[in-house]
Amino acid sequence: MESIEKQSAIAQDYLSRIAKEAEAKFDEHLPPVTDRPCRLHEAMRYSMFAGGKRLRPGLAKATFDMFGGTGDKIWLATSALEMLHTFSLIHDDLPCVDNDDYRRGKLTSHKKFGEATAVMAGDALCIQAFELMGRAGNAKAIEVLARLLGTYGMIGGEMTDIECEGKEVDLEIVDYIHYHKTAALIEASLLVGALLAGASESDMEIIRKYGRSIGLAFQIVDDILDIVSTTEELGKDAGSDIEKGKATYPSIVGLEKSRERAKELYEESIRVLDGLHYDTQILRAIAAFIITRVK
Ligand code: IPE
Ligand code: IPE
Ligand code: MG
Ligand code: MG
Ligand code: MG
Repeated sequence: MESIEKQSAIAQDYLSRIAKEAEAKFDEHLPPVTDRPCRLHEAMRYSMFAGGKRLRPGLAKATFDMFGGTGDKIWLATSALEMLHTFSLIHDDLPCVDNDDYRRGKLTSHKKFGEATAVMAGDALCIQAFELMGRAGNAKAIEVLARLLGTYGMIGGEMTDIECEGKEVDLEIVDYIHYHKTAALIEASLLVGALLAGASESDMEIIRKYGRSIGLAFQIVDDILDIVSTTEELGKDAGSDIEKGKATYPSIVGLEKSRERAKELYEESIRVLDGLHYDTQILRAIAAFIITRVK
């Protein structure tokens, strides 16, 4: 087996290749700025094309291909997933939530367009995503996605993240926040790709476990980077968590134990993949990327 660095490089190549194809589809799936309401369409495109790792489209495409999916419907899902992720970022940055000024190396939506437009750009991306999922034609995928994004998923995590600001919380609460605000959409991306490819229930269960492990690892690394990296490197406001008294892994167990936990979750995710009788190379590489990434 290749080193973790080699694996991570494989994932980065893969993600940038998928990003190119996915981004061409975003352009097709987003309303043109010449249509009314022009400024809203401009704001939606501004955040969608500001950059980003395109991890969620990459995950969906990876499971779709792994389980033998065919046809173009996956590109509707990859656009939908990146729109949902971008919606979550725009709202996460708002003054009433995390109050951040930079995202993906540019001013946040509310800084650039004002709060009202940012709120609506997020709303519009969320709704547009479900239109695209409708076109992809798999009711179960829509149900799974909605469930993992709603109050029992991402929104539940975001709400609890806000409620816990400045409070002393234990690791059980931080795990709840992280599994919900971040792992849920990562899990959903993998499951949507799998569902569109017609994966079996038992294979979906394995993918779900893998998704929860890499999803939690992803947010632990995000917490670490907020402390050890810079705004320039991250393209978003470093040090933002401490400033707001956020409930994070390092705030509870410290940086070293956080790193250890991320590594453990990585190893767990690789073990889980052993249960699949498919080529899991890309998923293994993505797991390595998640714990070694610097932004
Ligand atoms: C940022 O997600 C928000 C979290 C869930 C921590 P990413 O780190 O995937 O952001 P982009 O898409 O690359 O900008
Ligand atoms: C946000 O977590 C996860 C979302 C659902 C957007 P963070 O608040 O830590 O994400 P960043 O650090 O602003 O990207
Ligand atoms: Mg937040
Ligand atoms: Mg934030
Ligand atoms: Mg963060």
